[in-house]
Amino acid sequence: MRSIKVNLDKKSRSSYEIRIGKNIIDRMALIIAKNHKAEHYVVITDDCVGSLYGKKFLAGLEDVGLNVNLIEFPAGEASKNISTVMDIAGELLKLGADRETFLLALGGGVVGDVTGFIASVFMRSVPYIQIPTTLVAQVDSSIGGKTAVDLQYGKNLLGTFYQPCAVFTDLSFLETLPEKEFNNGLAEIIKYGIIDDEKMFQTMENHMETIKLKESKLLLNIVESCCRIKKSIVEIDEKDQGLRHILNFGHTWGHALETISGYSITHGEGVALGMIAAARLSEKMGYLENNQARRIETLLRKAGLPWKIPEVFSADDIIDALRMDKKKKGDIVRFVLLKKIGMPFIVGSVNLEMITAVIEEMKE
Ligand SMILES: NC(=O)c1ccc[n+]([C@@H]2O[C@H](COP(=O)([O-])OP(=O)(O)OC[C@H]3O[C@@H](n4cnc5c(N)ncnc54)[C@H](O)[C@@H]3O)[C@@H](O)[C@H]2O)c1
Repeated sequence: MRSIKVNLDKKSRSSYEIRIGKNIIDRMALIIAKNHKAEHYVVITDDCVGSLYGKKFLAGLEDVGLNVNLIEFPAGEASKNISTVMDIAGELLKLGADRETFLLALGGGVVGDVTGFIASVFMRSVPYIQIPTTLVAQVDSSIGGKTAVDLQYGKNLLGTFYQPCAVFTDLSFLETLPEKEFNNGLAEIIKYGIIDDEKMFQTMENHMETIKLKESKLLLNIVESCCRIKKSIVEIDEKDQGLRHILNFGHTWGHALETISGYSITHGEGVALGMIAAARLSEKMGYLENNQARRIETLLRKAGLPWKIPEVFSADDIIDALRMDKKKKGDIVRFVLLKKIGMPFIVGSVNLEMITAVIEEMKE
């Protein structure tokens, strides 16, 4: 089992470990029993992950003497809202949860974001642990303490910064992950290559087929590299005041597309389209060479991700949704652009005509 320590600012919660490996769930139960003692634990999961892993996971924790309950909610982004939070809070109260109760988020980014949000507000906060079961959650959402639910106006508009006490990343969960969901995770991995690690980007260009087989040690190394990149950025800018914005490469566009599609475009698909748009915009503005923008698009296509914006979405609707971005300042939407692969930067104002031109070029 590999271990990465996230060292946070002294004023915030204590630092925590990300443990990564394959078939580490039994050891996880022992570590929780030893390092994160509590009278009562509640596993929060969705109905898909619950039916696959719920019973076994609960049994593993009970075997080491822990008092555990499980709460499930319907899988999918549509559940990432305040009404799910209210339902879970009610369930927690029925189960006798109090300030000493430990929450365990077992699932993808939706479960992680919802559980983190509840943990940050339930009885003015209770501790929680992330056990990510999708590739998106393993390389991204389980680390860094951003919690949120969506509002009808846009994604993640209600949320907190609240760090977990630990993260356990078990690659064996990926065996049951559908290909489309695995590809969504590849979008986030490609993002790390683009913003911070050209060598990893090249590795993916050369070995995408092997990575897609899920079995390889290569995938373990890549997941570890992504966790290290994210933790380094979070350590410098926990509250998203500057450097952490670069993790949002492609996300401003991605969130807009997810929202206007009513989430039929998934997070990973939105991010993939957003990264292509950001690369094309960087090229149009004279920052990025054409061949670098092409390499990004080619790799995303190789990963099985979309590269065309569905015709039904108008440029005006996409631009309206872009304006709802949390990272805007006043009327100015900030975009992460590229000088080259491995060298992102943030711009505060982008010509509307250029944005429209990129959208039109990318239409099916
Ligand atoms: N907090 C952050 O920093 C951060 C970062 C990135 C993404 N996110 C959020 O994460 C969410 C996307 O996460 P996601 O892609 O994991 O989506 P998800 O949580 O909806 O999971 C996708 C689907 O896979 C299923 N699933 C999960 N694990 C499985 C497994 N092992 N086997 C089979 N099926 C499994 C789920 O039930 C769900 O149907 C978005 O809401 C996004 O905003 C948050």
